[in-house]
Amino acid sequence: MTHARCTPQAHRPPHLVAAMLCLLAAALACSTATQAAAVDAAMPKSAINASVGTGATFQPPPESAIPSDAFGKAIKLGRDIFLDTPKYAGRYIGNTLSCVNCHTDAGRMAGSAPMWAAYVSYPAYRSKNRKVNTFEERLQGCFHFSENGKPPPLGSKTLVALQAYAYWLSKGLPTDEPVAGRGYPKLAAPAMAPNYVRGKAVYEARCAICHNANGEGRYVDGQTVFPPLWGAKSFNWGAGMGSIKNAAAFIHANMPYGQSYILTPQQAWDVAYFMDAQERPQDPRWQGSVAATRAKFHDSKFSLYGQTINGKVLGDIGPPRQH
Ligand code: HEC
Ligand code: HEC
Repeated sequence: MTHARCTPQAHRPPHLVAAMLCLLAAALACSTATQAAAVDAAMPKSAINASVGTGATFQPPPESAIPSDAFGKAIKLGRDIFLDTPKYAGRYIGNTLSCVNCHTDAGRMAGSAPMWAAYVSYPAYRSKNRKVNTFEERLQGCFHFSENGKPPPLGSKTLVALQAYAYWLSKGLPTDEPVAGRGYPKLAAPAMAPNYVRGKAVYEARCAICHNANGEGRYVDGQTVFPPLWGAKSFNWGAGMGSIKNAAAFIHANMPYGQSYILTPQQAWDVAYFMDAQERPQDPRWQGSVAATRAKFHDSKFSLYGQTINGKVLGDIGPPRQH
């Protein structure tokens, strides 16, 4: 039997760490450990696998090594935007998520799509937009979809700062070589097709304690403490996390927070399916109808956009909000 345990990360503003611990203590008072045990008991023992890890050995430089010149100023601004996107880049986003919510430990964590591994891997071809993307263009993608926003223009102070931060984190890494720790560790295909009902049980036992029973996260004084997984304040239908495959891999390696790899791969797939079967902001690449948008951008078994779940067509919420 394991209790949810919070590992505060070194690179988070201290007031948020305090708020997280405080909320967590309150949540633990009505422990869901019994529920978690019941969910685990339903799994065949053989399905519970050991930690897989990423094999990453690279260590990005410590914060204390940020130079104290103009370059250092840009790095610090990039770090600030990364840790508190609503505060430092609010006009470019349409939800309450910060980059760090999905790229944990200030974009340093191997297996959580870390910035150092990303930086040296661009320019790169992306099937998502069928062209070679610069790193700056890749940053715009996360603003557009994960942040449900309007991407900052190329060359803007915001993108230059984020680039400076990622460039600095990657100091010493060779370019143009595959980097251990990039993206998410590969997750084995599930033995059983991902399932809503099983996913809901995992969610209630392992996730709701922090992300809220309604999936909409928890806030203290308007600050996001536990980020929303769905609803109006979360990532939109075009985001990478909306792919069950990406979400399962992220969750397996990173969630519950501080308890990496505690879920079986099957549980990760099931809970990813459940999370991605919830309503969220419209895909900004909207083609005038859900069917047309699905046909053009979501024609994959990993996207539930346009599928009928519990009698409702997912994504059938009208055109995207204008920014
Ligand atoms: C809702 C979660 C979420 C948020 C918020 C988010 N991202 Fe991402 N990001 C992703 C996912 C998912 C990927 C794709 C990872 C993969 O394919 O392995 C990604 C990929 C990236 C990559 C490319 C990584 C690589 O190795 O190619 C960069 C760079 C990036 N994000 C930067 C940002 C920045 C900067 C912000 C904040 C402005 C941000 N992201 C916010 C989910 C998010
Ligand atoms: C102990 C609290 C806690 C638990 C339990 C937990 N999370 Fe999280 N989760 C977090 C925090 C905190 C973040 C943001 C990470 C950061 O900012 O460093 C996060 C981020 C996320 C994100 C990316 C951000 C977003 O809003 O989309 C997803 C997806 C996610 N969690 C899914 C899950 C799932 C699924 C479970 C259950 C298997 C789970 N989490 C359990 C605390 C928790």
